Amino acid sequence: MKKLVAGNWKMHGVAADLEQVRAIAEASRRFPSVDVALCVPATLIERAARAVPGFAIGAQDVHFAEKGAHTGCVCTAMLTDAGASLTIVGHSERRDSQRESDADVKAKSEAALGAGLGVILCVGESLAQREAGEAVRTASGQLDASLPHGEPAAAGVPDRLAVAYEPIWAIGTGKVASCEDIAEIHRALRERLVAAYGEAGDRVRILYGGSVKASNAPEIFAVADVDGALVGGASLSAEDFVPIIAAAAAVEAAPPIA
Ligand code: PGA
Repeated sequence: MKKLVAGNWKMHGVAADLEQVRAIAEASRRFPSVDVALCVPATLIERAARAVPGFAIGAQDVHFAEKGAHTGCVCTAMLTDAGASLTIVGHSERRDSQRESDADVKAKSEAALGAGLGVILCVGESLAQREAGEAVRTASGQLDASLPHGEPAAAGVPDRLAVAYEPIWAIGTGKVASCEDIAEIHRALRERLVAAYGEAGDRVRILYGGSVKASNAPEIFAVADVDGALVGGASLSAEDFVPIIAAAAAVEAAPPIA
């Protein structure tokens, strides 16, 4: 499966950072075997999309309603109008700080796929859940309850849907899940995707996220069922992000190790 390496800029990025968007888009052309995307703040989507035509610029969240009285929110039509081609949904920082439920995330992913956008749907356990032996159950349960169903969302599966496994304790902490732990969760998520979508579930990309950087990317990308990465801090500059894209390209031809 072609790997997807997506950057999540979170609440970082103003006009001056378009230079990095350009540098990343330019460098990513050297790696045609890898899909690359940057999910930037909503305020930067239109300028980023104009700066790098043909390169995938995404959002970090979307409302599930078509329009209406939702102060501060952005709907799918606004994203496509601004030039976004995908969006993250269900990031743990939103599930936590904005109290987004699995049902919200499901509705968002259905709205986004239905509008023709790509979706990166995030799941992942907290440290307490992992220590209680609940990691597989938590991530699988979130996925089951957040996956998009029904037409027209189904038309976007598998090509426009990706799942990101992001253990909360590994996000922005420098701690990375072991290859064995990643393999175990990704295997469980793959089973849930196949249970939900049949054969198409085998072709939904499953990304790993949480402190991915150039130094650990090669071993993470070599794990079975790791079809790419969702990268936060290390996606903010071309200097840090491009080597991760290069690592994804390098393992394309190599067999999985776990
Ligand atoms: P990080 O963030 O790479 O900075 O850990 C990943 C994410 O939250 O998507």
